[in-house]
This record gives sequence, C-alpha cells and structure tokens, in this order.
Amino acid sequence: MEQKKFKRTTVTAALPYANGGVHIGHLAGVYVPADIYVRYLRLKKEDVVFIGGSDEHGVPITIRAKKEGITPQDVCDRYHKMIKDSFKEFGISFDIYSRTTSSTHNKFASDFFKKLYEDGKLIEKESEQYYDEEAHQFLADRYIMGECPHCGNPNAYGDQCEKCGSDLSPMELINPHSTISGSKPVIRKTKNWYLPLNEYQNWLKQWILQEHPEWRPNVYGQCKSWLDMDLQPRAMTRDLDWGIPVPVEGAEGKVLYVWFDAPIGYISNTKELCEKEPEKYGNWEKWWKDPETRLVHFIGKDNIVFHCLIFPTMLKAHGDYILPDNVPANEFLNLENDKISTSRNWAVWLHEYLQDFKGKQDVLRYVLTANAPETKDNNFTWKDFQERNNSELVAIYGNFVNRALQLTKKYWNGIVPECGELQDVDKQAIQEFKDVKDKVESYLNVFKFREAQKEAMTLARIGNKYITECEPWKVWKTDPKRVETILNISLQLVANLAIAFEPFLPFSSKDLRNMIGMEEFDWSELGSTSILKPGHQLGEPHLLFEKIEDETIQEQLDKLAKTKEANEAAAAAASYKAKPIKPTIDFSDFEKLDIRVGHIKDCQKVKKSNKLLQFTIDDGSGTDRTILSGIAKVYSPEQLIGKDVLFIANLAPRKMMGIESQGMILSAVNFDDSLSVTTTLGEVKPGSQVC
Ligand code: 2FM
Ligand code: ZN
Repeated sequence: MEQKKFKRTTVTAALPYANGGVHIGHLAGVYVPADIYVRYLRLKKEDVVFIGGSDEHGVPITIRAKKEGITPQDVCDRYHKMIKDSFKEFGISFDIYSRTTSSTHNKFASDFFKKLYEDGKLIEKESEQYYDEEAHQFLADRYIMGECPHCGNPNAYGDQCEKCGSDLSPMELINPHSTISGSKPVIRKTKNWYLPLNEYQNWLKQWILQEHPEWRPNVYGQCKSWLDMDLQPRAMTRDLDWGIPVPVEGAEGKVLYVWFDAPIGYISNTKELCEKEPEKYGNWEKWWKDPETRLVHFIGKDNIVFHCLIFPTMLKAHGDYILPDNVPANEFLNLENDKISTSRNWAVWLHEYLQDFKGKQDVLRYVLTANAPETKDNNFTWKDFQERNNSELVAIYGNFVNRALQLTKKYWNGIVPECGELQDVDKQAIQEFKDVKDKVESYLNVFKFREAQKEAMTLARIGNKYITECEPWKVWKTDPKRVETILNISLQLVANLAIAFEPFLPFSSKDLRNMIGMEEFDWSELGSTSILKPGHQLGEPHLLFEKIEDETIQEQLDKLAKTKEANEAAAAAASYKAKPIKPTIDFSDFEKLDIRVGHIKDCQKVKKSNKLLQFTIDDGSGTDRTILSGIAKVYSPEQLIGKDVLFIANLAPRKMMGIESQGMILSAVNFDDSLSVTTTLGEVKPGSQVC
C-alpha cells in the first residue's frame, strides 16, 4: 500500500497512572521508542509534537490515598512530580508533560462528553452494581474482595484474582465484602452512559483490518481477535467520587470513566501547549483535526483495546478528529525472567537506577532498545546489561571514537587533516557507511527500533575494522601523508556516529559533539564524508562509556534476591491458615500443667549439637534449674541471657546428649516454622505461675 504523505506528526505516549514511579518496563515499552521516533523526526526537520502527561484519575489512586490517609490529589501531586522528573532525567523529550487534573483537561474532557451526549451518541443503561450501605457508595471492582471461584484464594479482587491470574467480575466472588467498611455489599441498580461499540464494529473492521494491514502483527492480531467477537456497549461513566463529574443533569455522584478522560488528555495537553507557545506550535486544532496530520500512539500491549478500538470510536463519534495512523504497541519486558510487578516490587525503578548508575541514562536506553519487546515479550537481565555496556558501548562505540580521536591528537595535534587520494580500503569503508543512513531510516520509519540501533552501531564496527586494517601507527613511519586520509575518514565516521546515535543515545551524542566541536548537525548529513572540515580543531578526547564491574552488577542482583525473599515470606504469610484446634480438654486437664515464669541466668550451646541450647533458669525456688531447648538455630545464647521466659515446670525430666532437662521452654511456632520464645509483657518475679 502506498504511504500517504503527511504535513506533520502528533506523537503521544501513554499517560502513566500517577500512583507510583516508572520502571524499565514503562521505559522500554513506551517512552524510549516514542522518544527515539520523535528525535528522529525532529532531526529530519519535520513538524512534530510529542505529548505526554500523568493519568490522575481511576480507582487505584483513591485506594492508595485511603491507605496513606491523604487525598487522591496529594497522591497525584507526589507521583506526577516524580514521574515527570524521571522522564526528564532520561531525556524523554516531551513538548509537554501535563496532567489530567489540570483545569484545561477537566473542561475539555467534560465538553467532549457533553457533545457525544447531546449528539445522541451515548446510550443510557441501568445495571446492577454492588453498593456499600455503611459507606453509602457504589463499589468499584477493586473495592470488593472475596473468595476466587477458580482457586479459592480468599483475597481476590472484584476484577482479578492475583493468585491464579483469572479475570473476574465482582458478582463472581464468593462471600464478597467491601474493603471500605468491611460490610457485605448489597446489589443496587444504577444508571450509566455507554459508548455503543457494537454500532461501530463494522466501521472498525473496515478501518483497521482493511485499511491498516501494516500495523504491527501483535497490534493487528489483538484488534482482529476483538473484532471477531461481538463488541458490547462500554460504560463511559462510573459511580465514584474521584474523577471528572459527568456533565449531565441527574448524574450527581458519577464521574467520567478514567479510560474516557485519559486519552482525551492527549488532546487537552496539546491545547495547553499550543496556548502557552502559539508562535512555536500554532493552533492546537491542526495537530488533531487536519487530515494531513499523522497521529501515532506509543503504548504497551495492555492498552491496545483502548487506543485501537475505544478511543478511535470516541473520536469517530465526535466527528471532528483524525484517527491514529499507527499504534506501535510493544509487548512486555520481564525482569530476570519474571514478570515486572509493582505490587511485588519486582522492577528496576528509574529513580533508583539514577541513584545507582549516575550519568548512565544512555546505557539503560541502549540496553532497553537492544532488547525492546517489539514482537514478543522480552527479558532484562543485569548480566546482559553489563555485557552490552562492556562489549558493545565500551568495546565498539567508545573504543572506536577514542582510537580515532587519540590518533588524531597524537599525529595531528587534534586537528582534522585533509583527505588525500582514496585507496581501495577507504572506498570500501565509505561505501559501507554510506548505506547506513538508508538502513537506519528504513527501520525507524516502520518503528523497528532494535534493528535501527543495531545499524547505528554498525558505523562503529566499520570504523574499528577500518583503523585496524589501515594500521596508521605503522604507516606513519613511512607515509605520514597517507595517515592524513585515514584520520580524515575515521573522523568523518565519528561525526556520523554522533548524528546516527542522537535519537537513541542523546546524552552521549551531545558529549561526543562537544568533544569534536560539532555545533551544527543535521540528519541529512548522515553518510557524508565531509562533515568535519580540514583544519577544524577537535576538543580534548575522553572516554564516552566506562566499564561496569561485576561487583556493581552483583549489588543489583542482591537487591532483587532480597525482594524475592520478602515476597515469598509475604505470600506464605498471606496464605497461612492456623492449624486446627486440638480436641477439647477439661479445666482439670489444664490445671495439671504447671507453667511458670523463669529468668535466664545463663545459656550455652550444647557441645556436639547444633540444635540444643542449655539454659540455667532462676525458677524462684532458690535452686537453679537446667532446661534444654532445640532453638540454637534461631537464637544465640547472648540474645536470651537476662530474659524472662515461660516454661513448663512439671514435665517429667528427660536426658538429651547426656544432660537432664528439667522442663520445657515455651515458644510460638510461626507459619513458616520460625520460632519466637514467649515472654511476659510486664516484669514478673521468677517462679510466678501462668494461668
Ligand atoms: O495503562 C496505563 O498506565 C494508563 N494510565 C494509560 C493511559 S494512556 C491514555 F489513554 F492516556
Ligand atoms: Zn484465583
């Protein structure tokens, strides 16, 4: 299919929820590819706008606020700033990063809804929902918990069971309860407004399946499987108190569905930008209403249905807007072979990475692009991160730049020499790198960022091979004139690298440009052999990348191992069920037991036993008592000496390892079989009875 020519491009990147930080999965899946694409278009001097912002509505934000005893707006303020800062640090070059709690957005989303409502594009429907009679509110799915009908997990949510991964609806939960008041919810009727996706199904089929066969197979495939089923009307409003009020009479207590208002945020943020800088960006409407504008949404695969079916249907129903030309959604990135999870803290958080790897933003950008989950889920491992840094960025790119600049410094005082007559080896190198521009472009144009970056790296490989073949350090002795040509070509390659890597590694490109004194640069120069002019003075060379040592990687692996341990303990605690109670006994049976308080005067390890501790106990009788207890693996003697403990005083004596034990110290056995010795809350004299 012939590519349509566009005048300008509007690029959006999914608005992250402002209820947590951003991690490498977000960066790899959405923000780095979007940024590469935008930087590439800007380098080509195309008219482009890059829109981002925080998604500040939705139930998870209210849940976090409740948990912390603060307002949802406080939660948004905290995370909006944190996310915005992380993006800035990683060079994600948004033209605007705004938020969906802004007044511009509020009004814009509200007006959008009103127009659909007034044009009769929405349908009103009653449905049955759970209602909390104590809290006087309808319950969002996440506010209802109960037993999973599939696996019996007692803590499943109304929309999902996190234990077995099943998608649920609240009505499926066994013994549901409200997480707000703890009460059993009742079913009540409520009215909401729905987008009749079913009425747009044929149009969606035509538009996506017929007109966009070029969309990525994962995106096209997911759309097709939705469109092969019967689409249902989807509620665009919710009974909730956090969000944009539904601008319709009789809709008190209802807000716009977060997935209705969030994508409209792309438009309202563009409007905010254009109104702030009209000279630079012009009227906002040209970015969203002119058919000569190309709209591209960068998202993760969990957002496909919203960006390919629901939002386009909203835009179509509204009538004034263009539709996305492409939605290059990525699959997911795993971390060390395990799914990234915010709730399990299984992630590399950007703000933590920045602390641990100061100034190494480009290393992460490089590795995430090299492993981008473009066609299937992919995996991030710290070993691979180290390997790619050390044997690609350091050993290929950094090494070539350093060789070229050091040789020029040594033989030509850091001045770009003339290019003399070309030999075959020069012609071959030039031929090889002239192709790179076309190759990088051909990949970037179709959102194949991994391949595009690989091609950029090819320039450095060509450079290394060229210097090694030419051996200027040998030639210098016999033919210094020839060295001029070798250096000139090498330096042109260095300049080419600075341009080619600009979309991918903007920080190192800038560093490199400063190093070679290249102020102006242009994508169209890529492939040129005359970027740096003879006589141009280069700056002082330094290394572009540094090696990452094993210890640094081990620290990251240790951090993850600790997280795993904590998760396992938390999972075991969550699924712990107390052992069944033993058969009932009479009070007289209980009275037979003589439980006393004892003061530990001394404690020692029993020789040749790794389990037993020998206690010397003051039991209040005036004579010390010896008790043995198998808790040496849990406590060291020093932890217990001086403590008061509970013990059974009338248990028949028993010999262990040749020592007689005169009683038993009582411990509580935890769910994971760990032990905790029992003691008294207040101070009690040794020998006091426990009853
Ligand atoms: O999945 C998410 O993180 C959503 N907050 C993405 C919203 S994208 C757009 F619609 F704003
Ligand atoms: Zn389950």
